[in-house]
Amino acid sequence: MGRGTAVTAEAPPGRSGLAVETRGLTKVYEGALGPALDGVDLSVARGELVAITGPSGCGKSTLLHLLAALDAPTSGTIVVDGHDLANLRDADAYRREEVGLVFQLHNLLPRLSVLENVEIAMMGTGLSRAERAARARELLAGVDLAGRERRRPTELSGGERQRVAIARALANEPAVLLADEPTGNLDSASVGNVLRMFARVREERGTTVLLVTHDPSVAATAERIVTMRDGRIVGEDSPARAHP
Ligand SMILES: Nc1ncnc2c1ncn2[C@@H]1O[C@H](COP(=O)(O)OP(=O)(O)O)[C@@H](O)[C@H]1O
Ligand SMILES: [Mg+2]
Repeated sequence: MGRGTAVTAEAPPGRSGLAVETRGLTKVYEGALGPALDGVDLSVARGELVAITGPSGCGKSTLLHLLAALDAPTSGTIVVDGHDLANLRDADAYRREEVGLVFQLHNLLPRLSVLENVEIAMMGTGLSRAERAARARELLAGVDLAGRERRRPTELSGGERQRVAIARALANEPAVLLADEPTGNLDSASVGNVLRMFARVREERGTTVLLVTHDPSVAATAERIVTMRDGRIVGEDSPARAHP
């Protein structure tokens, strides 16, 4: 799974050693007064956990949406895990298998069980129903939710729901996990839990994690903090190195 060669015409992943590389990325929404992104150059190494922070409206979500190929840039280039997003052959496969998305509001389907919410991410991957179920169980165990498979999302705490969303995002072993304010609605105990899951995923699977947050204490758990303002990157910080 993942790393499909079907996604782009010529995709030799790993050539640059970078999981994410954007150059001169701009996005101007139709009818907007100014750009939402204004020349973003961002390089993220494989396996890195990077926090992207900055005030509301500075372009954080726009950046993640472009990386997920949910929207197209006005100009500039994006390469994710060796795939040039301007030349995607199969955008659906890219979204399903190369990137995993976790949002502030987890977007779980309320009528489905926890297990089914994870299984659904693997539809269209060629796995059998039994294989999907087995893998969903394994993923849920990996976010400490073994035993919760039959519950509905409404029967879980906010932090547990967010961990289901993380399990779902990891279902197809994405190269890059994109999380947009995933702790924004959680109490502090749940925030800690969710952050530990991101750290674990990175350590165990080498997944690259981009974590958008406007909470400085959440950002401080990353290896690197990228600060944005008005659609631009205005600062970089390495909290881990500053406080070993
Ligand atoms: N779909 C859209 N259409 C028009 N303007 C948008 C759209 N999405 C975001 N914007 C604008 O782009 C800017 C950046 O927004 P966003 O990326 O959501 O910022 P953040 O996630 O940092 O709060 C804001 O000025 C916002 O109003
Ligand atoms: Mg946002």
